[in-house]
Amino acid sequence: MFKYLMFFGAFLFISVGHAEDMTEEQMAAEIDLDLGEEIHEVCAGCHGEFGQGGKKGEYPRLAGLPAKYIMEQVKNFKSEKRKNMPMRPYANDRELPDEDIPSIAAYLSQIKLTSKMPEFDKNTTAYEKLLIAKKVFNIARVDGDIESGKEMYVDDCKLCHGKNGKGKKGSETPPLSGQYTEYMTRQIQHFATGERWHEYAEDLFEDMEPEEIQAIMAYLSTTDD
Ligand code: HEC
Ligand code: HEC
Repeated sequence: MFKYLMFFGAFLFISVGHAEDMTEEQMAAEIDLDLGEEIHEVCAGCHGEFGQGGKKGEYPRLAGLPAKYIMEQVKNFKSEKRKNMPMRPYANDRELPDEDIPSIAAYLSQIKLTSKMPEFDKNTTAYEKLLIAKKVFNIARVDGDIESGKEMYVDDCKLCHGKNGKGKKGSETPPLSGQYTEYMTRQIQHFATGERWHEYAEDLFEDMEPEEIQAIMAYLSTTDD
């Protein structure tokens, strides 16, 4: 049903890129990872020590999301284009001035979580193992029709969210693999009602049945195993 998107793909990437008016060079000049780490102490209270999120997706994962996407969302929270009560006391000009946003976004974006415990060689110390184990993060499998979820994903979502929900290199569209399914389900409900903006929300989400959302989530929950 969404095949025509293929033809508009190139145009869309330009049109969704509007939110960030800074050039790559300007962004790089404003990034201070130490400052990012300092700001992160506040965010970590909800989003976790490694930006892994928590409380079954009440707090989304931020680790590894594209920096430009994080920047855009933080700006949306500040302007209340995207409403989020819990973040209100933090996402405002006094607590988080615009010039600090590239640093916190870059800091969160570079955090790498692994979805499996790696094989250790005999030189790995217990302490190193502990640090690695803390960054192992895997989305729990969800019941649902994985096959039809995958089909819907490939037809309607893959163009923007990338193969297996991994996002696309250089794109600021968020990956969906490795994100809490409860959180994403809630976002889809917000897209359907218009509470949160999403490109083509009407066509994509308004008539989506709960079982269809469930199936897409079942599929996505397999993509980080
Ligand atoms: C009091 C808890 C709390 C704190 C502290 C907090 N957040 Fe959040 N944040 C949330 C909640 C809840 C959501 C999910 C909102 C929703 O369901 O739409 C969220 C969502 C986000 C998102 C959107 C993620 C996505 O995938 O779209 C970003 C980005 C974000 N927060 C960044 C930050 C940053 C940066 C900080 C620190 C400056 C921070 N948050 C501090 C509660 C918090
Ligand atoms: C035309 C490109 C496009 C298509 C097609 C598309 N998305 Fe998106 N999606 C986006 C963009 C861009 C965002 C970020 C929106 C924003 O700026 O808040 C997004 C955000 C999301 C989010 C929120 C992620 C987060 O971390 O908060 C979910 C969930 C999502 N999309 C699910 C889907 C699903 C499921 C489909 C297929 C049924 C789909 N999208 C199809 C571009 C697309």
